[in-house]
Parts: sequence; structure tokens; C-alpha cells
Amino acid sequence: MSNFFGKSFCWASHRFAVIFLLFFFILLIHACGGRGGEEECENPNELRAGNEPDPRPMARMMRVMYKQGEEMRSRILAGDSISSDAFPLLNYHTQVPTDPSVLGPDFDRHHAEFSKAWEELMKSPDSVRYNLMLQACMGCHADHCPGPIKKIRKLSIVQ
Ligand code: HEC
Repeated sequence: MSNFFGKSFCWASHRFAVIFLLFFFILLIHACGGRGGEEECENPNELRAGNEPDPRPMARMMRVMYKQGEEMRSRILAGDSISSDAFPLLNYHTQVPTDPSVLGPDFDRHHAEFSKAWEELMKSPDSVRYNLMLQACMGCHADHCPGPIKKIRKLSIVQ
């Protein structure tokens, strides 16, 4: 008797998990379908493949910012200096994005936080401020373009 109840209880909780997962996937599909055309923001590992046509200007500039991050990282690790002459803050926020609905007050707030982190880094560059700048990249991405977060996180300098 207790065995039977034990089993049925177990099945009930599995069923609950399955329903929960289904619900989650439906949400996920809905979120992806609703946005369309910005797979690179949804895909955790890949940038948009190079042979796909015409990335939007904001996406193109973001790729340059990613490169800047890579270069800063290797310079800091090598003990070389970095400056705003070599690494100007790009005006990505005025570029046309793939999905215009990302723009708005929340985007502006993230942009302000990011600009501040970038300035702090340039004032006195070190690995701590560099990582804080990356945190600001990821702060905006968490709200507006989660796909590249994993990739951006890999730019961090492990303390
Ligand atoms: C204020 C918001 C914001 C900040 C700050 C920000 N990003 Fe982005 N990023 C975006 C948005 C929005 C997109 C999608 C752009 C598009 O598709 O047009 C994007 C796209 C990208 C992409 C994908 C580009 C592609 O190939 O499609 C990379 C990589 C990226 N960002 C890296 C970075 C890095 C590195 C930083 C910090 C140095 C950063 N981002 C800071 C909002 C931000």
C-alpha cells in the first residue's frame, strides 16, 4: 500500500515537472518568435554567422566593442597601459539596432552606467575596473540581448 502511494506520488511530481517544462518551452518559443531576426541576441554561443547579410549598424559596432574588450584584456594581462585614445567609447547607442524596441529609458540607463564604467576604467586602468566595465556590458545585455552574455563573460580577467 505504502509502495503504491510512494510510486503514485513520484509520478505526480514528475508530471508536475513535465508540465512546468512544457510551460517554460512555450514561453521561450513565444519570446523568440515575437522578436524575430535577432537570433544573435538569443543564441548563447554564436555571433551571427559571417555569411549572413547585413547586420544592423548597432550589431556591427558591438562586434568592434567586443574586439576592443579582447585587446584591452590582453594589454592589461601583459601589464601594458590602455587609454581612451586607443580605446574610444563608441557611439553605439545612436546606431540603428536589429530590434528597435530595445531602445528606451531602460536602455539609456544601462548606457549611462556603461559609459561611467568605461570612463572609470580609462581614468585608472586595472583589472578590477576592467571587469566592472564588462559587468556594465552584461547589465544591458541581461535586459536587451542575452545571447552574447556567455561570450562577454569569458572576457573577464579572473582575479
Ligand atoms: C546599453 C546596452 C548595451 C551595452 C552597454 C552593451 N551592449 Fe552589446 N548589444 C546590445 C544590443 C541591443 C545588441 C543587439 C544589436 C543589434 O542586433 O543591432 C548588442 C549586441 C552585441 C553583440 C552581438 C553582435 C552581433 O554580432 O550581432 C556583442 C558581441 C556585444 N553586444 C558585445 C558587447 C560588449 C563586449 C559590450 C561592452 C564592452 C556591450 N556589448 C555593451 C546592447 C548593449
